[in-house]
Amino acid sequence: MSSLLLTGIGSLVTNDPSHGGPLGELRDAALVIEGSVVSWVGSRRDAPAADSSLDLGGRAVIPGFVDSHAHLVFAGDRAEEFAARMTGQPYSAGGIRTTVAATRAAADEQLTANVARLVTEMRRQGTTTVEIKSGYGLTVADEARALAIASDFTDETTYLGAHVVPAEYADDPAGYVSLVTGPMLEQAARNAKWVDVFVERGAFDADQARAILRAGQAKGLQARVHANQLGEGPGVQVACEVGAAAADHCTFVSDADVDALASAGVVAGLLPAVEFSTRSPYPDARRLLDAGVTVALATDCNPGSGYSSSMPFCIALAVREMHMTPAEALWSATAGGATSLRRTDIGHLTPGARADLAVLDAPSHLHLAYRPAVPLITQTFIAGRPLS
Ligand code: NIG
Ligand code: FE
Repeated sequence: MSSLLLTGIGSLVTNDPSHGGPLGELRDAALVIEGSVVSWVGSRRDAPAADSSLDLGGRAVIPGFVDSHAHLVFAGDRAEEFAARMTGQPYSAGGIRTTVAATRAAADEQLTANVARLVTEMRRQGTTTVEIKSGYGLTVADEARALAIASDFTDETTYLGAHVVPAEYADDPAGYVSLVTGPMLEQAARNAKWVDVFVERGAFDADQARAILRAGQAKGLQARVHANQLGEGPGVQVACEVGAAAADHCTFVSDADVDALASAGVVAGLLPAVEFSTRSPYPDARRLLDAGVTVALATDCNPGSGYSSSMPFCIALAVREMHMTPAEALWSATAGGATSLRRTDIGHLTPGARADLAVLDAPSHLHLAYRPAVPLITQTFIAGRPLS
């Protein structure tokens, strides 16, 4: 197993509290990668010898971003819908059906190529782990196909057969829930780690969501929920009740929801690129953080509510629009995402962690929000291997 010493690191974010500060940041640092894992971090002066070394010339190194919420298996786009929103149309979950029609009609190769394109885009922007949902198939075969494709790109695959009730079941939502909890789940569970439900007016209610999440759990899947995106509702409470890992969106939450998230230890996934692209109010991150809720930041990359693949963009929005400190935003985009996915091997750069990291053409992580929309990521390492 060969070792690589990264040296001349101006600022190294470890997310290891033993190094002090909110991010365990080390100055003038070095890091050794052995095979696929980090084997040593510390001061440049103390760095051990390695088979090869790379001087980063004072650049910053951060843990790779963990994007805990994305919908990448789809065909077509909805650029016209976005343009209409920017001139006053509201976002409606009904647009999902447009993408369902395009996705069902697409060949496997076309869907795979689209996922590959988006994953490449994400990696170039420093993302080293991405969760990928189904949810634009909504038949037994199309959901199974989406998850098979997703599993070629990530271990973090999510069965979202309960995205909306498809048009052909419009008169029989109970029949659709039976399909989602029965034959569709049966096939989907082969390639899914997670089960998710869009709990919202116009999508699924609390009883349907409980039934779907419990059925998934009985098949060995873990729960996560689309909760409280378009208005207050039961999503957060259901997530807490079933022991979900995450309640994502959390745009409209009550005091009781905030308390429930804090006491159940459910991660609140905030997805500010959606509020940007739907002209909605941003979630109140400060209220969640001040109540002790663990916050993850993710892109929610999808063709409808927000088509950004960029975690740096989410960080810039979180800092500028949601009043998170740059340190809180970076933690939420790395360690927070890992917590949301119940992963302990990623989201931090400590000995034994997977060597997932991003090199910034900047002296510190502050530049992620300070220089929005600038492509600062010059190199991404995944499991110890550089991207290009
Ligand atoms: O997370 N909210 C539900 N699902 C996606 C949007 C999907 C779409 O509009 O195509 C979301 O925002
Ligand atoms: Fe989503």
